[in-house]
Amino acid sequence: MASFVTGAISLLVFFLIGTSSAQLCSDFYSRTCPQVFPVVRSAVYSAILNETRMGASLLRLFFHDCFVNGCDGSLLLDDTPLFTGEKRAAPNFNSARGFEVIDEIKSTIEMLCPGVVSCADILAIVARDSVAILGGPNWNVKLGRRDARTASQLAANNSIPPPTSNLDFLVSNFNSLGLSIKDLVALSGAHTIGQARCTNFRDRIYTETNNLDSIFAQLRASNCPGNTGSGDNNLAPLDLQSPTTFDNNYFNNLVNRRGLLHSDQQLYNGGPTDSIVRTYYDNPSSFASDFVEAMIKMGDIRPLTGYSGEIRRNCRRIN
Ligand code: HEM
Ligand SMILES: *[C@@H]1O[C@H](CO)[C@@H](O)[C@H](O)[C@H]1NC(C)=O
Ligand SMILES: *[C@@H]1O[C@H](CO)[C@@H](O)[C@H](O)[C@H]1NC(C)=O
Repeated sequence: MASFVTGAISLLVFFLIGTSSAQLCSDFYSRTCPQVFPVVRSAVYSAILNETRMGASLLRLFFHDCFVNGCDGSLLLDDTPLFTGEKRAAPNFNSARGFEVIDEIKSTIEMLCPGVVSCADILAIVARDSVAILGGPNWNVKLGRRDARTASQLAANNSIPPPTSNLDFLVSNFNSLGLSIKDLVALSGAHTIGQARCTNFRDRIYTETNNLDSIFAQLRASNCPGNTGSGDNNLAPLDLQSPTTFDNNYFNNLVNRRGLLHSDQQLYNGGPTDSIVRTYYDNPSSFASDFVEAMIKMGDIRPLTGYSGEIRRNCRRIN
């Protein structure tokens, strides 16, 4: 009797713990909407052909969705008079972009398989395809997430680390979501593509003296005026060598003290992540495989599954 009770309790505990990430799988739409893969791939391909930066912008959307109450499409909800979403939160306002590409994909998918594919899953496939199209690794994406019926501007403000973060903060922020120090370094390698605004790197290039290549700082200062408020939105590439190719040059920059953001250079600043940066700099395939592993882990952050949430018809609003 006692062992039956213990067995029943451990089964219950197993189900309670196993409700989230355990349910995602790569063949989730294999019978209900196999077209999702070619539709997303070709839409991302066209968007990148039109504007190369879009691949970076789309990859970032998945990060900004997953870090805020899990990968649940909450980032995509527009504000309404009664509701403030995440788009105008500090890390996203004037910065997160690519929402029209998601809309276009969603409307095509709704014509082919209505009510089946979540916006959260579209973000996951789009992120993978952006990386693959720009020359990075390809992998099987785990699917089966459902969409949130709410969003939180406060959580977006508080959960996405700012570029002023020090290493300790980044490590604990990632750890709180189940991501290791290695995942932190590998995922930061996403900054091998895309652009940042002057307002996010001004303090680094003007006030840091430590761990900053002065020629690089001068180059960046030429398009980022020192006084707050002027040229705030001027852009610079996160990877000065190859900003439109998903390669390991980001780590080369860090080793040469040419990280653009304070948070980037923190990963190579005499601390415990230096050796990981070195490994990825020396060995592009170890970066590629650790990046894939970390993207899958990030995609597993608290998804809604089963009967939780919904499959939104329009990614911008709840049904
Ligand atoms: C480790 C902590 C991180 C910090 C502090 C951080 C911060 C930033 C900042 C400040 C920007 C520039 C935004 C702007 O100026 O408008 C940026 C851009 C970007 N971030 Fe991160 N990020 C982090 C991690 C990540 C991760 C994990 C990913 C994806 C896996 C990612 C992908 C990107 C991409 C691709 C861009 C360029 C976007 C574009 O050009 O539109 N970042 N990040
Ligand atoms: C192409 O990119 C430009 C910005 O470079 C943008 O304004 C335009 O809307 C894009 N067109 C399409 C069809 O995506
Ligand atoms: C989030 O940050 C933005 C920009 O700093 C601010 O305007 C907004 O009030 C913040 N939202 C909350 C709920 O704290």
